[in-house]
Amino acid sequence: MSGVRKTIAVLPGDGIGPEVTHAAVQILGDCAKSFEHKFEFRELAFGGAAIERFGSPLPAETLAGCRSADAILLGAIGGPQWDGLALDKRPEAGLLGLRKALGLYINLRPIRLRPALSGISPLRRERIDDCDFEIIRELAGDIYFGEHSLTGEGSGARARDVAEYSAAEIERVARYAFERAAARSRRVASVDKANVLATSALWRQTVTRIAHDYPEVTLEHFYVDNAAMQLLLRPAQFDVILTANLFGDILSDEAAALAGSIGLIPSLSRGGDGQPALYEPIHGSAPSLAGQDVACPLGAIFSAVLLLRESLGLEIEAQWIEAAVDRVLDHGFRTIDIAETGGRVLRSSEFTEHIRAELHDALVHSERYGWGV
Ligand code: IPM
Ligand code: MG
Repeated sequence: MSGVRKTIAVLPGDGIGPEVTHAAVQILGDCAKSFEHKFEFRELAFGGAAIERFGSPLPAETLAGCRSADAILLGAIGGPQWDGLALDKRPEAGLLGLRKALGLYINLRPIRLRPALSGISPLRRERIDDCDFEIIRELAGDIYFGEHSLTGEGSGARARDVAEYSAAEIERVARYAFERAAARSRRVASVDKANVLATSALWRQTVTRIAHDYPEVTLEHFYVDNAAMQLLLRPAQFDVILTANLFGDILSDEAAALAGSIGLIPSLSRGGDGQPALYEPIHGSAPSLAGQDVACPLGAIFSAVLLLRESLGLEIEAQWIEAAVDRVLDHGFRTIDIAETGGRVLRSSEFTEHIRAELHDALVHSERYGWGV
């Protein structure tokens, strides 16, 4: 068996970012060892940690290290100590700068309830059971990247954020959504606010036009307020949700809560083929949990799974890790944010050790688990 040789840029970031990326890197390390791959992990300063060390949330060396990697694994950024900085100096500006510089215009957030966790969804079991959809969020345009200004003081102050889209920016992300849907249940729900916003009117027109190239996929349009409601009422109606940058940011936190916890959801951000993609849990840096070994590592671990699957094409390895996580959850082991009555709450590092033990067990007893390795 000969494995792959890949470089993975690791950006731990702030708050719980370093802890959760450490867990994900351990598991990627186990994967490399077990399947004879060579992963070179290149750790790079990013976010608030980079502001402290280099005076910038996205140092040139970090950007260069990301560009030359095969894939990027990011933890989380931000924290109260940087909240007083101007918007363009904050850790968040580093993340937006990285998305822009790498041309990451697609953001994919898979929302799937792990079977063992249906009890922690805020929805009743019969409403959440068939919930398995993907949110595809446009990531390089919209109000996030238009001009921002805040001038004046007190009651004379004014602020302005410009939302802008070109048809070409909408087309490229729409094509990705239709292609994803074609390989799933062939339904795209496009979310906009076309009854009010010009950018949304263009969004709707463009998505409708692109849909003609994918006759096997059914397209439905939702206004964003209705989509927010439908997610709670009937999440199972969704297969692929396609939406703009700001709406995707908001709806993906709502959808993550449906799946039990924002701590569980990974994401993929990518640009054109052949460019390195970025993987990160969608949760924030949770400063109040940092350093206590309690943060759920699953968002980061599932981000590593997504990396193996989407950037490296290692599907068997991805399934090996997902199955190990599911067995740990089936045994009733939990971190505090996904705790249930009767379950056993572990420290984050212990939880990761249980996953690693299951990974090992699956290889040693490969006949029991059906792994041909
Ligand atoms: C996300 C985050 C970021 C965003 C922040 C940290 C800039 O909320 O990835 O969803 O708004 O895109
Ligand atoms: Mg967000």
